Amino acid sequence: AEKGGYEHFMMKEMMEQPRAVANTLHPRIKDGKVVFEDEGLTDERMAKAKHIHIVGCGSALHAGMVGRSVIEKLCRVRCTASIASEFRYENPIIEPDDLCIVISQSGETADTLAAMRQAKKAGAYTVAIVNVVSSTIAREADGVLYLWAGPEIAVATTKAYSAQLAALYLFAIKLASVRGKITAEQEKTYCDALYQLPEQIDTMLGTKEKMQYIATRYANRSSIFFLGRGLDYAAAMEASLKLKEISYIHSEAYAAGELKHGTISLIEEGTLVVALATQPELYEKTISNIREVVARGAEVVLVTGEDFDGDASYCSSVLRLPKLPHEFSASLSIVPLQLLSYYIAVERSCDVDKPRNLAKSVTVE
Ligand code: BG6
Repeated sequence: AEKGGYEHFMMKEMMEQPRAVANTLHPRIKDGKVVFEDEGLTDERMAKAKHIHIVGCGSALHAGMVGRSVIEKLCRVRCTASIASEFRYENPIIEPDDLCIVISQSGETADTLAAMRQAKKAGAYTVAIVNVVSSTIAREADGVLYLWAGPEIAVATTKAYSAQLAALYLFAIKLASVRGKITAEQEKTYCDALYQLPEQIDTMLGTKEKMQYIATRYANRSSIFFLGRGLDYAAAMEASLKLKEISYIHSEAYAAGELKHGTISLIEEGTLVVALATQPELYEKTISNIREVVARGAEVVLVTGEDFDGDASYCSSVLRLPKLPHEFSASLSIVPLQLLSYYIAVERSCDVDKPRNLAKSVTVE
């Protein structure tokens, strides 16, 4: 796999995200409907699931956390996203007909494979969302949704994570449709919006220069916080992991409402806080959390929706997402934050594609 003229595989793969997401989406959207053909995921199977379990590690888990939020919002079915290495040992409560979505780019992660086997043994129907064709998880799962994102070389995933989100949106729309939670019209609206997603991701890649500039200002920080509520909290988890993985800067993602119960004691003059506020129903609450950290000296980079009309004058930078259904905002908010982590890591002369201590796939426990 060549770098295609880019300095790092990670940059090449970030720039490939529109194509990767299109490869996941386009074969599965026909005439305004989501179709899963020969992927081992029938309408009947989806209709009878009472609980959706999602398992994964690292960024795959973070994609699952976003998926959990979208599935519960659209389908009103109980859904949990669990760390695979925890799930495999906690004797999970699984009922017959439960669905277990197993997310893994490589399809070889030991903890995720073990969690899937545990779920199968307990009677769940397993559906793998994987990138590597014929990987172990893909072969052992009952159903498989391949990402078709192409080989991903950089240890810190970008295009596979984005494609995992796309696959989870498809699952959520299909599940909502099969269970009568959305009309055919609504399904078409969501599918039309998904068709725009690759182009909108490309638009967010256009923040490259801006994020490179911001990165030079914050590359020497000892710790950086990411805040969000609901789906934005799940997105913040992935943004924080990206930074830790490749720049070695300590970082935490925090549920914005939880900050005052402890972590705010760590906020001091000049602390960088990246705040995600893309869900209109949570704007006001998240903005008040942001004001709390600004009052204690934090500098804030805000990622918000194009429809946010509040006061953001106290933020050092504001990034606005183009208009899209709010359920899909994590696909866009992550892009500038991937770029931010990348440029901070480059500024710090880190090995971007092969960060210390990390492996592309952890096939041992
Ligand atoms: C880690 C990778 O080792 O494993 C992460 O560095 C990845 O990028 C995680 O998210 C899970 O890997 P996979 O292949 O199961 O998605």
